[in-house]
Amino acid sequence: MFLRNFWYVAATDQEVQAKPFGRTIMNEPIVFFRMPDGTPVALEDRCPHRRLPLSMGKLVGDALQCGYHGLRFDKTGQCVRVPGQDLIPPSARVKSYPVVERYKWLWIWMGDPALADPDKITDFHWFDDPNWGAKSAYLHVEANWQLVVDNLLDLTHLAFVHETTIGNMALVEHAAVKVQRGPNNVLVTRWTIDQPAPPTFVKVGGFTTNVDRWQIIDYAPPAFLRLDVGATPTGTGAPEGKRVGGISMRNLNAITPETETTTHYFWGQAHDFEPGNRQMTERVFEQIQAAFYEDVAIFQAQQRMISLDPDSPTVDINADSGGIQARRIVDRLYAEEQAALAQRAAAE
Ligand code: FES
Ligand SMILES: [Fe+2]
Repeated sequence: MFLRNFWYVAATDQEVQAKPFGRTIMNEPIVFFRMPDGTPVALEDRCPHRRLPLSMGKLVGDALQCGYHGLRFDKTGQCVRVPGQDLIPPSARVKSYPVVERYKWLWIWMGDPALADPDKITDFHWFDDPNWGAKSAYLHVEANWQLVVDNLLDLTHLAFVHETTIGNMALVEHAAVKVQRGPNNVLVTRWTIDQPAPPTFVKVGGFTTNVDRWQIIDYAPPAFLRLDVGATPTGTGAPEGKRVGGISMRNLNAITPETETTTHYFWGQAHDFEPGNRQMTERVFEQIQAAFYEDVAIFQAQQRMISLDPDSPTVDINADSGGIQARRIVDRLYAEEQAALAQRAAAE
């Protein structure tokens, strides 16, 4: 199940260069490249002649030339040259996709192009903000995208999957959790008061006392999770909004379906302490990255079990509340998109 009328992160800005590269998004093969003036372009990655991926071709001037028989396509997907003939068949064109560069990512619109409003791009300003140090990365995950969403909305797993980095048992046994749902968002707030800091926090924050730790998870569909996380020495007033003497970070996640069982996972970590210190940014990133590899192993193992028997039963526990709310939003939006498509088809 995919939601189409949304902006998704397709690539990092570094991945998109003059040399074309192919990536599948929601089962659609797409070729990305940059025009000589730097403009990013996304086209269907399948030549309408004999279906070679256009990502095996090359840019010639402003046009993408197929690597098989040399048909050329402009940035709108229109064929502009057929070697050896003057007539260009009217059906010689490929689909083009709206793209926007923002927050060091290339965003793509997978739905009706008439609805592609860049103002609807989810805010990830921490990657550009001089008050924050930040680094992002890309992971390919062999698992359905919703397994990644579930994971980030239920942070009790930190105690079991990430006990050597960002987790400890205090998060499960002593957290006060609140789940709030809006029409198009879920907010899970977790406070763990007067408990030991986890290993990573001690390393980057230098805590020597117990801490008050917050994890505020903001979910926006289809699959954006922005986590406000941090800790201050216990009793210094963080729950009342006074964040002094501790550390505050944003864990930022943009999840893009590749197929039903594979996912492009763009994530990053931002920190508000020593924002200009590149070494600190690297140190924070490396700590969190270790935890992300642990998560990927979990998603992929889950997917293997699901693929063996998609109808095998599952049970829910209290910790699933945020994930269940998010899935309800996705289900509703999916039903709305399908109804709108059916209505349009009926009108045509
Ligand atoms: S397959 Fe592309 S030109 Fe023939
Ligand atoms: Fe995790």
